[in-house]
Amino acid sequence: MREEMRQTPKKIIIFDTTLRDGEQSPGASMNIAEKILVAKQLETLGVDKIEAGFPVSSPGDFDAVKAVAAEVKKPIVVGLARTSQEDIARAWDAVKEADRPGLHTFIATSDIHLKYKLRMTKDQVLKAVEDAVKACHEYCSSVEFSAEDATRSDKEFLVDVFNTAILSGADTINIPDTVGYTTPQEFFDLVSYIRTQVTGIEDVDISVHCHNDLGLATANSISAILAGASQVECTINGIGERAGNASLEEIVMALNVRKDVYNFYSGVDTTQIYPASRLVSHVTGISVQPNKAIVGANAFAHEAGIHQDGYLKDRTTYEIMTPESVGIGQSSLVMGKHSGKHALKNRLEALGYNLTDTEISKVFKRFKDIADRKKDIYDEDIEAIVMEEVYRIPDKYRLKYLNITSGTVAVPTATVQLEIEGEVVQAAGFGNGPVDAVYKTIIQMTGVRARLLHFSVSSITGGTDALGEVTVNLQDKNRIAVGHGSDPDILVASGKALVNAMNRLEFLKTKDLSVDK
Ligand code: KIV
Ligand code: ZN
Repeated sequence: MREEMRQTPKKIIIFDTTLRDGEQSPGASMNIAEKILVAKQLETLGVDKIEAGFPVSSPGDFDAVKAVAAEVKKPIVVGLARTSQEDIARAWDAVKEADRPGLHTFIATSDIHLKYKLRMTKDQVLKAVEDAVKACHEYCSSVEFSAEDATRSDKEFLVDVFNTAILSGADTINIPDTVGYTTPQEFFDLVSYIRTQVTGIEDVDISVHCHNDLGLATANSISAILAGASQVECTINGIGERAGNASLEEIVMALNVRKDVYNFYSGVDTTQIYPASRLVSHVTGISVQPNKAIVGANAFAHEAGIHQDGYLKDRTTYEIMTPESVGIGQSSLVMGKHSGKHALKNRLEALGYNLTDTEISKVFKRFKDIADRKKDIYDEDIEAIVMEEVYRIPDKYRLKYLNITSGTVAVPTATVQLEIEGEVVQAAGFGNGPVDAVYKTIIQMTGVRARLLHFSVSSITGGTDALGEVTVNLQDKNRIAVGHGSDPDILVASGKALVNAMNRLEFLKTKDLSVDK
């Protein structure tokens, strides 16, 4: 491993799959506008490739990939396809308008998958690889081939598969640890084996795609880099199928902070990591665990007295990187109730939101409303307003009025006024607590029979007057939607989040989708 480190720094290609594998996280869902927003943030972050989706999987996914392809300029926009000609044609249709389109085709190679899932022989798999990669190559030059479940595959067969892929025109071969099974040393050995046994490997990129079932995804990815991989596949906040994928922020910061041992670098602007993390958490409804490396709420918090003492004397005693280096703590106090529309427009542009006049007016109206109740408005508050006012699904239900009575002796009661498809209705109801009263009343008024899978409250910025942000996940049969609401009053935020999730469930029904794309 050491020899690799002493050579001149080598660039590692960052292949972000937040919009594809990340979206496969249970409960994660993004609509097209949100996918575009995340893709643009990934571009600002400086990733090299964005896997935008799996176009054949649903019309919604196709449209989302197509929209991302039209918006993103610098990174390669990749569409995923199985080896069938139909998948590949559909993926190409979705990415072809991109400035830099790419295709990614995959088939499983392990004995387990061949026997139980594919019911194919090794020869049939080799033929499928050849046909698929050739078909992709006819469409474009950026072609990745993945051997799904590579880490549980027969090594010699893997070599045959990758030889075939390279001969057929792949410019990247990917070694996925699909089930998060491998270990750092074992993966180092596997990547080294592939690197020495596959013909023509020096002319292509070796990629790795690690899942986190044993919590080893980052370690395995770094180990693969040390063995010669030049591309890593990862997601913001490590979201993804089951226990998730290797986390982008962990890999990038490990290479960055420990450049004394790892002689590699990425093109990522690390100060954009935290904004990307917040955005992905917001649009997917998957909150980041407080102790998550790099982006968790406690990642830079010092609790023990001895630690605080040392930190105050010199922050390097307990801090190996600064919060500023990953974009935390840069939130600036921007405005208050005297700020005008022009100042808001400038701030929105600085935050990367180029909105139309109508959208700015909507954001401004809400901004003024909040500024009347909250003294200081921060960037994070403005972003929450933009999410709710601009990037939301068209409303069937609108919360017009909410009044709650609760306390140590009162029976929690909610009086709610809703507009349902233009008609105003009002009702009151009780609950075990104030949130329960709000939810029961709204559910009774709308007749929506959905199950509340998840409810969480967090504070967007500090202080008791901070905007409270509520996230809920609602399930109606096989459909799951996420809803957000923010308000200085967390009960109002709760009502808004529920209504938002109901609107999104309605949207899924109209699009005939099981998740919100
Ligand atoms: O985990 C996996 O094997 C995948 C492939 C499609 C690369 O996501
Ligand atoms: Zn995966």
